[in-house]
Amino acid sequence: MWEKLAQLKKKYLSLLEKVENQEELESLRIEILGRKGVLTSLLKGIKDLPPELKPEVGKQANQFKALITSLLSKKQEELKSKKEHSFDYTLPAFPIYKGKLHPLTRVTKEILDIFQHLGFQVFTGPEIETDHYNFQSLNFPPDHPARDVQDSFHLKGEYLLRTQTSPVQIRVMEKYPPPIRMISPGRCFRRDTPDATHLPMFHQIEGLAVDKNIRFTDLKGVLGEFVHAFFGEEVKMRFTPSYFPFTEPSAEASISCIICAGKGCRTCSFTGWLEILGAGMVHPNVLKAVNYNPERYTGFAFGMGVERITMLKFGINDIRLLYENDIRFLRQI
Ligand code: PHE
Repeated sequence: MWEKLAQLKKKYLSLLEKVENQEELESLRIEILGRKGVLTSLLKGIKDLPPELKPEVGKQANQFKALITSLLSKKQEELKSKKEHSFDYTLPAFPIYKGKLHPLTRVTKEILDIFQHLGFQVFTGPEIETDHYNFQSLNFPPDHPARDVQDSFHLKGEYLLRTQTSPVQIRVMEKYPPPIRMISPGRCFRRDTPDATHLPMFHQIEGLAVDKNIRFTDLKGVLGEFVHAFFGEEVKMRFTPSYFPFTEPSAEASISCIICAGKGCRTCSFTGWLEILGAGMVHPNVLKAVNYNPERYTGFAFGMGVERITMLKFGINDIRLLYENDIRFLRQI
C-alpha cells in the first residue's frame, strides 16, 4: 500500500507537469479523483487493511488527495492566465476608425467653399423669423396659396420658424447696398410628416447676387460652375420653368442623373435628370421691399436643399438615415 501510494504520487505529479490544456487537465482529474479514479479506489481500499495500518495510510492518502487537489487547481489557474495573455499574431487587426464630420456638415462646407471661390460671402440669419421676412417681403401676399406649400410652424404673434433661407436675402439687402454676392446656409422648418424624402427640419443653402446688369445667363454660368465643381465635369445641367413668388422668371435646375449618367434609372424616375435646386431672377417687388431701385439693379437667387444634395451625392435613399446617427451608416460615408 505504501509503495502503491508512492508510485501514484510520482506518476501523477509528473503527468500533471506535462498537462497543456484544460481538456487534458480535466481527464487527469477524473483519472485521479473521479468516482472510479485511482485515488478514490485506494481510499476505498483502506477499510480492508489491517487495523494498525489504517490510520497512517489513511493520513498519507488524504494528504496526497489534498496535495493533488491544490496542484490541480493551481494548474487550472495557470492555464487560464496563459490563455488570457496569449496573443494570436495571425488574427486580423481591429480597424481603426477616425472621427469625421457628419455628411451634412461636409457637404455644406464643400458647397460654401465653391461659392466663396466664386466671390460669394457667407451670411446667416435667424431660425425664428417674422411673417414679414419669411413671406411678405418675399412677395408672398397674405392669402397667397404658396404659403400653404410651405406649411409653417407658427409661434406667438407674427413669429414662425423660417420655412426657407430666403429671408436672409432680405436681411442682407437691408443691411448692405448693392453689389451683393451672398450665400447663406441654415436650418428650415416645415410641417411635413417624416418619410423617405421629408423631415420637419432640414437645411437649405441660399444664394443671391445683385448688381447692375445681372442677367439670367449669369445665373446659369454660376450654377454651372457649381454643378461641375461639386458633382463633376462630366455632369450636365438643365433649367426648366418653375414658380416662386420672389423670382421672375423662376426655374428649377436639374443635373444629368449621376447614378445612370442620364440613361434612366429608379433614382431619376427614368427621366435621366435629377432636380437639385430652385432659382430665378429676383422679383422687382423684392428689390423694392429693401429700397433697391429695380430700374438700376437686377439680381439672381437660388436655393438648394442640403439633405437632398447629400442624398444624391452619396446615393442615400432615405433622409432619416442622416439623423439616426447609426455609426454603421456614418462610417460608410
Ligand atoms: N426658397 C425656395 C424654396 O424653399 C428656393 C428658392 C430660393 C427659389 C431662391 C428661388 C430662389 O423652395
